Amino acid sequence: MSADNIILIGFMGSGKSAVGRKLARDMNYRFADTDQIIEETEGMKIKDIFEKHGEEHFRDLETKLLKSLLEKTRRTVLSTGGGMPVREENAGLLRSMGKVFYLKTSKETIIGRLHGDESRPLLKGNLDEKAERLLKSREPIYERAADITINTDGKTIDEIINEIKMHIRRD
Ligand code: S3P
Repeated sequence: MSADNIILIGFMGSGKSAVGRKLARDMNYRFADTDQIIEETEGMKIKDIFEKHGEEHFRDLETKLLKSLLEKTRRTVLSTGGGMPVREENAGLLRSMGKVFYLKTSKETIIGRLHGDESRPLLKGNLDEKAERLLKSREPIYERAADITINTDGKTIDEIINEIKMHIRRD
């Protein structure tokens, strides 16, 4: 049996942090966000880490962080950066930490949410084109990495949380 954490994966703008924070409060769990921890430990914004050290370096930081969280993380809702499960190794680590939920969100919703956002280096430039291409390549990865997929389009945060709780209660 994997540890008792709840892991949220999904594309940028899919609501992992907002859902995760509230879910943790509701369930009396701790909340952790991998992007936030990396920014705090590195003392740099993610955008600047990408700019200064490149994406590979950021991916290494993600893997290193997961390994360090593995043993000590319990009763935690963990919200992950959108690229976290792309590395096979990370997907395996996430699975061993708890139940993995994929917050599936359409390109249209994502674009609506991230329009004007400057903090995501991978979407810099033509948002529509970049989101389309990246989402296409990522969707099968998310599906494979997750225990459960939750369609989030048109749902409120509370509705999404209730679905997650229903799946947790069921097991
Ligand atoms: C990324 C998603 C971002 C952040 C970084 C890379 C990705 O996190 O980790 O910009 O590769 O999809 P959010 O999903 O929280 O935006």
